[in-house]
Amino acid sequence: MKPVNLRKWREAQEEEKSWWTKILSQTPKSTLSAFYGNRWTSLLPYLDAQLCQNCPTVVDVGSGPHGLIYYLPLRGQKVAIDPLIDSYRLDLNTTDVFPVKGVGESIPIGKDQTDLCFLINALEHTVNPQQVLEEIWRILQPGGYLICQVYTQSVTDLAFIKLGYVPPLSAYHPHHILANNLISTLERIGFRIEKCEMPFDPVIIDIFNYFKKSGEDQGSLRGESVYNIRLGQRFTHTLIRLIDNLLFLFSKRRFAKNVILIARKQHA
Ligand SMILES: C[S@@+](CC[C@H](N)C(=O)[O-])C[C@H]1O[C@@H](n2cnc3c(N)ncnc32)[C@H](O)[C@@H]1O
Repeated sequence: MKPVNLRKWREAQEEEKSWWTKILSQTPKSTLSAFYGNRWTSLLPYLDAQLCQNCPTVVDVGSGPHGLIYYLPLRGQKVAIDPLIDSYRLDLNTTDVFPVKGVGESIPIGKDQTDLCFLINALEHTVNPQQVLEEIWRILQPGGYLICQVYTQSVTDLAFIKLGYVPPLSAYHPHHILANNLISTLERIGFRIEKCEMPFDPVIIDIFNYFKKSGEDQGSLRGESVYNIRLGQRFTHTLIRLIDNLLFLFSKRRFAKNVILIARKQHA
């Protein structure tokens, strides 16, 4: 997971900002809350009962305007860190989350100060993913939790990218992260993976989305991976997805498109 240059990152951030501006202005708040709030419910059962009872210190790195931290049904000290926090602020009406403009590569929190950290669909957006994971390790207390979700690429994607293929959404994602690399980097840094899911993402959903008229997805939170992309690119995208769907049966880690994991900082 090599760093990207700052120009590429800034361009991706511009795309990100306009995407959120569009979504926030076109989608009713109740729809956003239902969609983003529901993501929490599947993760809650994995956390230690002790952690949930005591008022934990929780940090959401790359929180966006609707990060999990805004839906956390726990009392605690909550910090949301994001380089675009100023442009999201208008949408944030919660009072118990402290917003900080900053990056995951340099988190303004002391060593061992955090119980729980979220990194949801954010690692692939950063400048230096490895440094972000090291920073999270530093701020977590021993035994502290990291809940992380990454849209990963498969080895098929990487092979096609080498041949010049530009994947949809690459303007937003400066990094192409393999599930293998993510897991081995976390373990090398000193995390123990407690739970790791790689959901199967059937290509049939993309094919279904092709039949939607362009514009129909506007304001929708699903199906965004295929809108507004050229026909040739769609074809390659579908071909890769088909290959991945088949090979996923043999090796999840090499062909996964989405990784959701819970890791704990190991005691030194
Ligand atoms: C796709 S959004 C995800 C937002 C939120 N976590 C969610 O799941 O709804 C990615 C976020 O990562 C943020 N980001 C980009 N580079 C970052 C960095 N170096 N450190 C922390 N956050 C970063 C972006 O500003 C953006 O808000």
